Amino acid sequence: MTDAPSIRTPLPGPRASAIIERDRAVVSPSYTRGYPLVVERGEGAAVEDVDGNVFLDCSAGIAVNATGHSHPDVVDAITGQAGRFLHMSGTDFYYEVQVRLAEELAAVVPIAGGVKSFFGNSGTEAVEACLKLARYATGRPGLIAFLGSFHGRTMGSLALTASKAVQRRGFGPMMPGVYHAPYADCYRCPVGLTPDGCAAECLDYIDHQLFLQVVSPDEVAAVVVEPIQGEGGYVVAPDQFLQRLREMTRKHGILLVVDEVQSGMGRTGKMFAIEFSGVEPDAVAIAKGIASGMPLGVASARASLMTWPPGAHASTFGGNPISCAAALATLKLLKERLMANAATVGARLMDGLKELVGKHQLIGDVRGRGLMIGVELVRDRQTKERATAERDAVVNAAFRRGLLVLGAGKNSVRFSPPLVLTAAQADTAVRIFDEALSEVEGRAG
Ligand SMILES: Cc1ncc(COP(=O)(O)O)c(C=O)c1O
Repeated sequence: MTDAPSIRTPLPGPRASAIIERDRAVVSPSYTRGYPLVVERGEGAAVEDVDGNVFLDCSAGIAVNATGHSHPDVVDAITGQAGRFLHMSGTDFYYEVQVRLAEELAAVVPIAGGVKSFFGNSGTEAVEACLKLARYATGRPGLIAFLGSFHGRTMGSLALTASKAVQRRGFGPMMPGVYHAPYADCYRCPVGLTPDGCAAECLDYIDHQLFLQVVSPDEVAAVVVEPIQGEGGYVVAPDQFLQRLREMTRKHGILLVVDEVQSGMGRTGKMFAIEFSGVEPDAVAIAKGIASGMPLGVASARASLMTWPPGAHASTFGGNPISCAAALATLKLLKERLMANAATVGARLMDGLKELVGKHQLIGDVRGRGLMIGVELVRDRQTKERATAERDAVVNAAFRRGLLVLGAGKNSVRFSPPLVLTAAQADTAVRIFDEALSEVEGRAG
């Protein structure tokens, strides 16, 4: 699969079409499939479909396959553990692989003075654990999240999620005690400023309105924030926003929870995106890339906060030994090479995408860190009218040319490739994206 991409059939091919037809009859229609990819196998940053078409993967199963598809070290760790035991419920018994992972996380999570970890199976469970811990540890009910954020779809995390109305529509009433504030989306500044003259004035809303008119700060347990909004459109919060948020939360005894489910595990070139700001959070929600595709969600928190007693919170499958083994192998690869690769190849991909700005009027903004890059498409650079239909068309045109990218937010394209992406593959991704944009802009590719 070194020749990715290589497209041999019209898409979807005959075998893919048959499987999609069967899926339609028996699988929940709530999933958002942007294009008809039916996977047969993956290797590194390449994915082959059931008709023998090979794609260059810049989606990584939604930012999950950090070490690439089926990295041999991760596969060895999984099969080795599977041969020893599959499950023993770390909530009721002990096994070393979970302890080792908690030790490793304590060393990399950017919280000083000791870190303890709670293990679940997904991003939403990691967030739920952070919410429950924050309420338990502070004895306060309130939670603040940001517009545009995505924190998951179970009823606690869904109350924080404010990315797309369809994610909440029909599921109310939401969990009470949750308040939303504007996020530092500097391309569309919620308070009409420009990034150079900004002192994170969007946070004034919390200080001057929420705290004065809606909820007293001493009733707020935590502020939950993505350092880079993922589903919301790969929006990078400036450092001063996160720094001021930390000052504000500290002043009021509010915990700062960072949701690194999408931005964590080396994707940005640092282990966690919050590290760019120098801010020390109180808890971190981790999932997606941590185990290269095995289900695992972790809430890692300041050890002094983890005062909840036995029975307060647990999950039967959480911290499954196979997922823990995959996570240990993943962390080793990230530290040895892949986090650095995300920084260098990410810079190359970013440069390549920025070069397209001069050629394609559709591009409004290119932003990100490492291999977490968003390209926001607009109909008009002055008005910044969102080019949602065009974005969907570009994602599909890229797919037909053999490049897997996903939408994010209403009108952005996200590049979240496996962190094994090579410089040559980054160049190929830029070339195909260029062609896809040309096609949608009505020019020959
Ligand atoms: C920042 C963030 N938090 C939480 C979640 C929820 O993760 P999961 O789908 O594993 O529940 C996601 C998923 O996209 C996410 O991007």
